[in-house]
Amino acid sequence: MPCPALPEGFDFTDPDVYQSRVPLPEFAQLRQTAPVWWNAQPHGIAGFGDDGYWVVTRHQDVKEVSTKPDIFSANLNTSIIRFNASMTRDQIDVQKLIMLNMDPPEHTRVRQIVQRGFTPRSIRALEDALRDRAAQIVAEARRKDSGDFVTDVACELPLQAIAELIGIPQDDRARIFDWSNKMVAYDDPELAITEEVGVNAAMELISYAMNLAAARKECPAKDIVSRLVAAEHEGNLGSDEFGFFVLLLAVAGNETTRNAITHGMHAFLTHPDQWELYKRERPATAAEEIVRWATPVVSFQRTATQDTELGGAQIKKGQRVGIFYSSANNDPEVFDHPEVFDITRDPNPHLGFGGGGPHFCLGKSLAVLEINLIFNALADVTPGISLAGDPRRLRSAWLNGVKELQVHYG
Ligand code: HEM
Repeated sequence: MPCPALPEGFDFTDPDVYQSRVPLPEFAQLRQTAPVWWNAQPHGIAGFGDDGYWVVTRHQDVKEVSTKPDIFSANLNTSIIRFNASMTRDQIDVQKLIMLNMDPPEHTRVRQIVQRGFTPRSIRALEDALRDRAAQIVAEARRKDSGDFVTDVACELPLQAIAELIGIPQDDRARIFDWSNKMVAYDDPELAITEEVGVNAAMELISYAMNLAAARKECPAKDIVSRLVAAEHEGNLGSDEFGFFVLLLAVAGNETTRNAITHGMHAFLTHPDQWELYKRERPATAAEEIVRWATPVVSFQRTATQDTELGGAQIKKGQRVGIFYSSANNDPEVFDHPEVFDITRDPNPHLGFGGGGPHFCLGKSLAVLEINLIFNALADVTPGISLAGDPRRLRSAWLNGVKELQVHYG
């Protein structure tokens, strides 16, 4: 079906189309004219012969795909991004060891084990330590008068939160942070990190985590590693599975939260009424609106396991299906004035943490806690914070990222 709204050759997996504007105006056009749209793509995944992918733009359809893992599999690869074009079979097979790319029943087994580390009690147990960290991070940033909010503030808490949660010893944290940052940065040539450096960092992180798991099996401590690998009766993770889990956390819990915090700060500073309201009332609804507004993960992908119909489109077995959270979170059928940043929005059924299926974000409570803690600390800064430049966007087709945001304190 030709779509009158899109320019010829438009490609949602091209990082350059997101350089100046997310959400794309093209999403709004598709929601109205062709909500499940076949986007021909000449690049494809090497060895798979794909000639395009579906672009799912409406809130209801993104939810439907997310909640039907038997029809829309996560197993081939969940990222609908361009560097898939250069991926080999081996690289894709390795990705299947990450739970995000697993289907039930394998996914169910791993999820049941790892969610023991994410109970409300485990997250509450981190609160005091993370509150102190947040206060410390903000205090140090302020000492400089002005600087890059991303490196000074937004990067630090998510990494510390994951390290606290897993129980990474203090002395090892600098190395872990360095690997994590290298892994997520290599899509952007300006950051001068090659794909090889990114892949090596991932390998080093996996091997570090496997060694940590082996050590805790020998000698359990009071941390999540010990609980996940050493539990004998309820099933456990092998050391290699634990390595891939830590790898996923380093990406899933790091860049996402960092960008939610950065976009949140930018939104507050460009909507001073909302910042004043936040400082005065600290509404509990703010964190969810920050995540809706930021939508750090632009999209994920599934693969159809059978011929099926979605939103009036006929999807064929084996075709790739891109679910665009960034579009769903701006669907006017669900959100009144989605273009308005409103920290009192309630209800706020955004899909920033996923569409409610089996892969729904495992770290949501932790992310919400981090966002609350950091903005509480920032709201206490007097006389205030102001913008000192436009945000510089990360070059990425799946992450709504900011690599630099200059601010002034006081
Ligand atoms: C999965 C978003 C923070 C751990 C996901 C998914 C999204 C997402 C969209 C996929 C959902 C799906 O496919 O249905 C976010 C956002 C965050 C955030 C926007 C911050 C604002 C975190 C944190 C952690 C985390 C802090 C852990 C420390 C995970 C894991 C998965 C996941 C392990 C995979 C779950 C599975 O496959 O069962 N997240 N996330 N995330 N997230 Fe998050």
